[in-house]
Amino acid sequence: MKVVLVFQPKNTLHLETMSIEKKVRKICCIGAGYVGGPTCSIIAYKCPEIQVMVTDVSQERINQWNSDKLPIYEPDLDDIVKECRGRNLFFSIDVEQAIKEANLILISVNTPTKTYGMGKGRAADLKYIELAARTIARVSDQSKIVVEKSTVPVKAAESIINILKANVKPGIRHQVLSNPEFLSEGTAIRDLLNPDRVLIGGEQSPDGQEAIAALSDVYGHWVKKEKIITMNTWSSELSKLSANAFLAQRISSINAISAICEATGADVTEVAHAVGTDTRIGSKFLQAGIGFGGSCFVKDVLNLTYLCESLNLPEVAAYWQQIIDMNEYQKRRFADQIVKCMFNTVSNKKIAILGFSFKKNTGDTRESPAIYVCKYLLEEGAKLQIYDPKVNHDQIMWELMKPEISENPERVKELVEICDSPYHAIEGTHALAVCTEWDEFKELDYKTIYNKMLKPPFIFDGRLILDHKMLQEIGFHVETIGKRLSRPPVCRPYANSVQ
Ligand SMILES: NC(=O)c1ccc[n+]([C@@H]2O[C@H](COP(=O)([O-])OP(=O)(O)OC[C@H]3O[C@@H](n4cnc5c(N)ncnc54)[C@H](O)[C@@H]3O)[C@@H](O)[C@H]2O)c1
Repeated sequence: MKVVLVFQPKNTLHLETMSIEKKVRKICCIGAGYVGGPTCSIIAYKCPEIQVMVTDVSQERINQWNSDKLPIYEPDLDDIVKECRGRNLFFSIDVEQAIKEANLILISVNTPTKTYGMGKGRAADLKYIELAARTIARVSDQSKIVVEKSTVPVKAAESIINILKANVKPGIRHQVLSNPEFLSEGTAIRDLLNPDRVLIGGEQSPDGQEAIAALSDVYGHWVKKEKIITMNTWSSELSKLSANAFLAQRISSINAISAICEATGADVTEVAHAVGTDTRIGSKFLQAGIGFGGSCFVKDVLNLTYLCESLNLPEVAAYWQQIIDMNEYQKRRFADQIVKCMFNTVSNKKIAILGFSFKKNTGDTRESPAIYVCKYLLEEGAKLQIYDPKVNHDQIMWELMKPEISENPERVKELVEICDSPYHAIEGTHALAVCTEWDEFKELDYKTIYNKMLKPPFIFDGRLILDHKMLQEIGFHVETIGKRLSRPPVCRPYANSVQ
């Protein structure tokens, strides 16, 4: 370890370490959200000798992490937290103290799309990252490894480095690494325990390599060496944005094909199967539906398009922007399909919305396609009865009453009822729309549902998860995405071009 003599005020001589410690003993995570909470729980679980302190500015979030009802739902997360909490996993509001004590700091704060100023609606808002960096610089008395875990535009680490350099105390030299997180909500614990790869980007210098080695050792407790990929910082940052853009692109691609299927009589499930069995393409992420949501895909693809524009690459920006446009088109198309099928009006008609989270096995509603389907139906005057197994009532109302979703929040209160069970949600409705692929929707008693709905009862399966043949036999009028179901020619909204 290198040492340097530093003159402190009052002319006292003080020994200050310049380099980072080679072994990680205490971790501070800034941001106790969907990434910080589960990631640190797994680190604590797999590395009992490392103390992990997860911090957040939100007292409420920290209280929840310290309670029996965790702030996020993830399969198996409860058990892991219960095992480690109080042993080597702690949750605290005291961000500064945790930074001081740690020798490795994970920045896992949110990087939402900017809602103001330059890059509004597209660029990532890095104000929380910057604040975290300034706090680290201000309170640190030793050199630390600072790990950028949040998803950021390329070269964001440079801003962190500059802030740290300009504000640190004498003799301190932090190392900044990029270590993007690839977990997927709903399978976060599985993904963290068995990642496809761990990516670590760092400075191509001896100090940078030491920092990379220290972080690699942490993951090395449970991830095979060959799965830990190291590279330069900018490649690592761009890899994360690229991976999300590629995944979103596959969904938009199959959704674009679904529109062609509806117009021609082809079946998107069959096409996806045929395409996906090509080993060069693979079968994952080829499920047509009402579009992608979540906190990452929309934000990160927008962020990539903005980056391209900033780099004066307008053709590249337009290419990636089309993925977002196709996603918007798909959500709108589904809502239009509902209106057209229900004799061109849903005004005052009751519609059950099954599922509100952006995908199954999470309570996260950020950018959920269900929000936009509800928005369009509310604009048409429909009365919605909404049920989701993991999203609480206030959260649903909060999403629907946001100014960008509704101009008249009072009207939303009049038109929306949140229900505790799917059977309550379908009571007296004209139609049922599946907006999230929760497994429990496949198992419902559709004969009972049929009897409780007004006739003719419509089912719109926006996730292609239901047994359409069985539903038709019961007597439902069934519509879905990317295929024509045999039925009386009362409504074939996209079927008029080729017969
Ligand atoms: N959610 C995902 O599935 C996922 C997956 C991979 C990567 N990411 C990326 O990880 C980052 C975090 O995402 P998330 O979903 O966990 O966000 P989140 O909103 O759930 O959590 C972020 C937390 O950071 C806290 N925070 C903000 N500024 C802070 C500060 N200065 N000090 C302490 N706490 C602070 C917030 O209060 C919030 O609780 C984002 O950049 C996101 O793009 C998310």
